[in-house]
Amino acid sequence: MNSYRQLFLQHNAQTTFFPLLLEMERAEGVYMWDVNGKRYLDLISGIAVSNVGHGNKKVIEAITKQAQNYMHLMVYGEFVQGPQVLFAQKLCALLPQSLQNVYFVNSGAEAIDGALKLAKRYTGRYKTISCKNAYHGSSQGVLSIMGSETYKQAYRPLIPGNTLIEFGNLDDLNLIDETFACVVMETVQGEAGIRTSTTEYFLALKTHCEKHGVLLILDEIQCGMGRSGKMFAFEHYGIVPDILCLSKSLGGGMPLGAFISSTQIMHSLADKPMLGHITTFGGHPVCCAAGLAALNFVIDEKLIDEIKVKEKLFRARLIHPKIKEIRGIGLLLSIQFDTFENNKKIIDCCIKNGLISDWFLFCDNAMRLAPPLIISQNEIDEACRIILQSIDEITP
Ligand SMILES: Cc1ncc(COP(=O)(O)O)c(C=O)c1O
Repeated sequence: MNSYRQLFLQHNAQTTFFPLLLEMERAEGVYMWDVNGKRYLDLISGIAVSNVGHGNKKVIEAITKQAQNYMHLMVYGEFVQGPQVLFAQKLCALLPQSLQNVYFVNSGAEAIDGALKLAKRYTGRYKTISCKNAYHGSSQGVLSIMGSETYKQAYRPLIPGNTLIEFGNLDDLNLIDETFACVVMETVQGEAGIRTSTTEYFLALKTHCEKHGVLLILDEIQCGMGRSGKMFAFEHYGIVPDILCLSKSLGGGMPLGAFISSTQIMHSLADKPMLGHITTFGGHPVCCAAGLAALNFVIDEKLIDEIKVKEKLFRARLIHPKIKEIRGIGLLLSIQFDTFENNKKIIDCCIKNGLISDWFLFCDNAMRLAPPLIISQNEIDEACRIILQSIDEITP
């Protein structure tokens, strides 16, 4: 009989010629175990998804209970479904007055797609602004605002009218004018290698948008839900977006996304034509129940209060002549090395030594640190020990 690995290569679509090919059997907390019983410390959370840890009991309980009550009943937006209502209410209680209306979808790209459509409808304009090295997802619509020609060029023509600006560059904000529907930006750039900007920049961005009636869409799909050290990363910078996009950890490990705005803005999807955005599975009751349980866990366990201390621990432990810089905010960090070759060797060596990490789409010489938020101080020590040992192993 063929092994799963052979069958995977035969029947499951491949998007690279060098997949990791790890075969996991189970996962709990910050650890995963492969089919041979080898343990791995998960330092990337399936790319910023497993914030409350693998096998979280509260999440499993909520999923089981909801699956027993009901799963799919009706396409989004027709039936009043308890899990959707309660999760939207909880999110809104944590958000400012201008973000009180939630549209649930299935993924990050869908959240951005929905937000782009909403901005277009509300403003009556079609042009968009996004950032160089931005990653917002891989659908046709979202590819149109991606900040890298490498990944876009094979799929042209895309949606016209997007202008790329440099994240953090105050001068580029002068390009914003009344011909644009929206500016789309990650509050913390993820796939660019974890790049932050300043309060001065975000305040200027907001001012430019307001002056020209341009909607500000913040993508917190990777940096939101507590990972930055605040529930929403925009809270670090004293601004509020017109539309907020969430996904990844939003569903507590289940597929879920959301774009959130004011009731007034969101109403433009309900009129002329009505049904301006449609999804069958968006806001699936089981995913919403899981998301609510995960959010309650983050709050009840006060996980956000500990993020700064955990970030400091990583920064204090990860000192080595080969490490050029530790970048980022909270538990969304990157280790900058000199070359892709060394970065890859170190990451491969980490995996051999029982720690999972990877590099970034637009920054192949930096290594990703985005562990489950529940990671303990001892586990951080263990992670840093493995990373430093792996650096020494590849560069004797
Ligand atoms: C910042 C950001 N936005 C959007 C997305 C797209 O999310 P999805 O893969 O669920 O479509 C990602 C995925 O990595 C992301 O990091």
